[in-house]
Amino acid sequence: MGGHDEHDKWIVRSDDGRGQTFGDIVASRLSRRGFLRQVAIASSVMIAAPLVGGEPASAAPRDPAFRSIAPTTPELDEIVVADGYFARTLIRWGEPITATAPEFDVWGQTAEAQAEQFGYNCDFVGFLPLPLGSTRSDRGLLVVNHEYTNEELMFPNYDPSQPTNAQVDIAIAAHGVSVVEIARGADRSWSVVRDSRYNRRITGATPMTVSGPALGHEWLRTNGDPSGTRVLGTLNNCAGGKTPWGTVVTAEENFHQYFAHLSYFDEADPRAEVHQRYGLPKTQSERGWELYHSRFDVSYEPNEPFRHGWCVEIDPYDPSSMPVKRTALGRFRHEAATFVVAPKGQVVAYSGDDAQFEYVYKFVTSGTYNKTNRAANMRLLDEGTLYVARYNDDGTGEWLPLVFGQGPLTPENGFTSQGDVLLRTRHAADALGATKMDRPEDIETNPVNQKVYVVLTNNSRRGTTGQAGTDAANPRASNGTGHIIEMTEQGNDHAATQFAWEIFMLAGKPEDPSTYFAGYDKSAVSPIGAPDNIVFDREGTMWIATDGAARAVKLNDGLFAVPVSGAQRGHLQQFFSTVTGSEVCGPEFTPDNRTLFLAIQHPGEGGTFAEPVSTWPDRQGLPRPSVITIQGFDDQLIGE
Ligand code: FEO
Ligand code: CA
Ligand code: CA
Ligand code: CA
Repeated sequence: MGGHDEHDKWIVRSDDGRGQTFGDIVASRLSRRGFLRQVAIASSVMIAAPLVGGEPASAAPRDPAFRSIAPTTPELDEIVVADGYFARTLIRWGEPITATAPEFDVWGQTAEAQAEQFGYNCDFVGFLPLPLGSTRSDRGLLVVNHEYTNEELMFPNYDPSQPTNAQVDIAIAAHGVSVVEIARGADRSWSVVRDSRYNRRITGATPMTVSGPALGHEWLRTNGDPSGTRVLGTLNNCAGGKTPWGTVVTAEENFHQYFAHLSYFDEADPRAEVHQRYGLPKTQSERGWELYHSRFDVSYEPNEPFRHGWCVEIDPYDPSSMPVKRTALGRFRHEAATFVVAPKGQVVAYSGDDAQFEYVYKFVTSGTYNKTNRAANMRLLDEGTLYVARYNDDGTGEWLPLVFGQGPLTPENGFTSQGDVLLRTRHAADALGATKMDRPEDIETNPVNQKVYVVLTNNSRRGTTGQAGTDAANPRASNGTGHIIEMTEQGNDHAATQFAWEIFMLAGKPEDPSTYFAGYDKSAVSPIGAPDNIVFDREGTMWIATDGAARAVKLNDGLFAVPVSGAQRGHLQQFFSTVTGSEVCGPEFTPDNRTLFLAIQHPGEGGTFAEPVSTWPDRQGLPRPSVITIQGFDDQLIGE
């Protein structure tokens, strides 16, 4: 650890004159925005802080004061954190999380052990204070997603063409979610409370229920569950969100990859086209689970894939509660689901479909949040309206309702019920003419300015032959490095159906003329590629974790801070850099903003068990995905 300032290395000429195409885009977008807001804007891209809902922000935000680290390259298998901070490994893949779980033994793995141990490839991290309802920052429940498995790194002697039954069952048990109680000691270090009654694993085989309009739909019924109400497992849990009532919603992202043999489907069967639109493999699946579990083979269970691709609500405070697949929020490759309460009390969940040319969504509950009666909120996510976003080139936009019987979503166009609309959310969004985006990842609302930030990680096919061309919201062809859109809901009401938007950042190396950092001086920003997860601190500063920087900008992934208002708006600085082959997930703060949790996912990806390219964090021959804590030496706020 450590780190030092090497800004000079990244200084680029601001007058290089190479950015004409991009300059045109920015100038035209800014002038449109100026028109919309009836503010005079000079032709320069160096503009002052934007208005917040027509008024300046009430208090001047504190800007991050750490010294930016130099980026690291994929040869470096070390984490680096900004000066003044230290990192510790909190929990690793395979660590026991119950009193009865065995210690991790890479040579003696079993599915039974894995089902009581921390899962693989940690992604979403949610900190929920204990006791429930408190804002304590020294004790809480950590809810962590385990998105997928890297069998080639997990198992000695793994043969991808013929995985063993034991390997498959361990991998299923390494998927899902972990709930672990953690506590901060007198020396301020965090540890897992191993015998906590809250600790549990939810895996790719855990029974869960279904609720909302698609409950019991004929396409949810299987041989194993003729009622279409009881599903086994949650898969590819990427990011997620915390609800105002203290539950966690975990997002099922690339669920399609687990279901084999679409080529056996009768093409005349309407389900075949739906499975194809969602990307199911035609032949065997990547992990071969269908070899031992027929539900992963669509020639045996044609409907099993319909039971995945949902948002799943988990109550971490009630260890006996059963997770619920909330179908009202739609079925797609949910990246995340992030929650905010609208001014009139409706709860709004934003969620993106992370695939090239897919869409941005939000769900608005019919009911309102009840602050004093937690139980009254437990069905809120079953009734409401799902919308998909259309970004107009003039900086306006609309949320289009995915409601059966409205607009094109009628029987004449083949839609049969609200359950059908939700099972085929992508088709419904196509019919509404939503805007095809550059892989929507995390979407978060800023608690200080109430704006909504949509992260688009990349889209290599944008503008290529036969694909959609650029538009104002996705302005770069062959977008390899991603961008971030800033949206302002009408009246700052998250339940509104109209919004304004603008480009906040076009990521990349600042010397790349197509990049843009909200107009900030590009000689002073860090290079960034492929943004994925974001979080806002108490000051409203955005923290951005990346996934794919090695490909996008030939650097290790990292964590970056960027103010979104004031004179420092767009001043992106790198705070943390990760190890070879990994992405950075979380990020999550304690309520006091003095501990930052990061999930280091798939360290050493690209290597094998026999020939690892990373041995982080323990230098014991193999990499282990882990959650780390970052704290200040003086217990200062993170970023101060
Ligand atoms: Fe699992 Fe879209 O990242
Ligand atoms: Ca992600
Ligand atoms: Ca987030
Ligand atoms: Ca990712």
